[in-house]
Amino acid sequence: MKEIKKIACIGAGYVGGPTMSVIAQKNPGIQVTVVDLNQQRIDAWNDEDLSQLPIYEPGLDGVVGEARGRNLFFSTDVETAIDEADMIFISVNTPTKTYGKGKGQAADLKYIELCARQIARVAQGDKIIVEKSTLPVRTAAALKSILDDTGNGVNFAILSNPEFLAEGTAVADLHHPDRVLIGGEDEEAIQALVQIYAAWVPHERILTTNLWSSELSKLVANAFLAQRVSSINAISELCEVTGANVDEVSRAIGHDSRIGPKFLKASVGFGGSCFQKDILNLVYIARSYNLTAVADYWEQVIILNDHQKSRFAERIIQTMYNTVNGKKIVFLGWAFKKDTNDTRESAAIYVADHLLDEEAHLVVYDPKVSADQIYKDLDYLKTRSAEENRRLVTVVNDPYEALQEAHAATILTEWDEFKGYDWALIKKQMKKPSFVFDGRKLLDSASLRKLGFDYYAIGE
Ligand code: NAD
Ligand code: UGA
Repeated sequence: MKEIKKIACIGAGYVGGPTMSVIAQKNPGIQVTVVDLNQQRIDAWNDEDLSQLPIYEPGLDGVVGEARGRNLFFSTDVETAIDEADMIFISVNTPTKTYGKGKGQAADLKYIELCARQIARVAQGDKIIVEKSTLPVRTAAALKSILDDTGNGVNFAILSNPEFLAEGTAVADLHHPDRVLIGGEDEEAIQALVQIYAAWVPHERILTTNLWSSELSKLVANAFLAQRVSSINAISELCEVTGANVDEVSRAIGHDSRIGPKFLKASVGFGGSCFQKDILNLVYIARSYNLTAVADYWEQVIILNDHQKSRFAERIIQTMYNTVNGKKIVFLGWAFKKDTNDTRESAAIYVADHLLDEEAHLVVYDPKVSADQIYKDLDYLKTRSAEENRRLVTVVNDPYEALQEAHAATILTEWDEFKGYDWALIKKQMKKPSFVFDGRKLLDSASLRKLGFDYYAIGE
């Protein structure tokens, strides 16, 4: 079997960074080099101060601290890393296309193609190429064609090894994965990758399939997870008009072992860089094969999610006497979920945009997201000018300061610290009536109401 001595990973993002750190941690005999074009990102990965890593993930500092400099390296020298590696992971971004055919739905594969062309140009020896990025089914065929047609006559084996980690729990997910999925045709290459994971993952959790099943399974896994969230969010609206409580419904159905308790937490809508992108991609693929019923079915997951975000904003406006103009509304949380500083597609962005259309004055506090990022997210929408966003939105580092004289507090991210706040004190400092809109059903409704808050939660 081919022995892997050196690994390169192209893309030092939310996936490349943590995944390679754990592979290096668990395989001290293999040299792992993570490369990226983004110098700032690489500098942050190399920062002496482990609290300055470019992404926040509980436990990641410990893993990087253990392996970095020993057998884990971060660099911008992409070509040397490619040249030296026996195995190359491609972990670059695959965003939704914003132009041309498939705009707004298909995955943009330009970064993947650039990597393939660069690998083909540089590689002077045989390599195993591993798709770590989430890709449309049959991308491996395109990769193989580019590599073989533009390469230097060396041999490329292509494997699909999609990543299933969730942000906020990336290190735990990597240390104890439900499964590792490896798709491929070249048995020797498959076994080489199996060996790397077998350093810490039990063999029965390492699944091997053909390439297309592996590529498609990643999109399907995200689609099923997002579908559960949209399903319970649809029921949350029904709960609000019938007097049922969505948490109680989740608990009742989740006890059915066939349904299971996970991913049944109603929310202001799912966010994150992948659920929407991957479902749109699935929809696009189904449509491209003229599978209209299949495409329409999955598209509803996104439609419902958009509905959930805008209905939360509308509920705030209606409850506050149909006007939020000039009112101080505090956003507790901006990240798309707790324990991450990632804000991509966060529901908070869209709820904010809706309220800003109504000229609300927003004050945002998130324990891990910078003011710079929050303004970037709003500017990116291009709904209003950058000056207007800065006029209407203030970002603060102190939640108590934020809540002084506020008309309403809204919970957008389920950060644990929000539960521990002195809500009695906050009640005294807010304007009356004091509204709380809980988009995560995070706080204890009975005690907040007892304190005198007008408390509204999703699904209640
Ligand atoms: P990211 O944007 O955080 O990181 C991608 C990195 O690739 C960037 O730093 C970018 O500079 C770099 N890059 C792009 N082109 C390059 C090139 N030609 N050479 C060198 N570097 C290049 O993205 P991410 O969140 O890590 O996602 C990567 C892939 O993994 C996506 O396909 C995504 O769908 C998938 N995925 C993401 C998650 C997640 O939790 N974020 C989980 C599972 C799968
Ligand atoms: C998700 C999947 O869980 C990972 O398996 C996958 O690897 C990853 O996408 C990816 O491909 O990028 P992630 O988006 O990081 O991971 O986080 P999740 O925990 O899945 O949460 C996604 C969104 O759904 C968040 O906004 C979260 O708040 C929301 N959610 C989740 C709910 O509203 N309710 C739930 O019950 C669960």
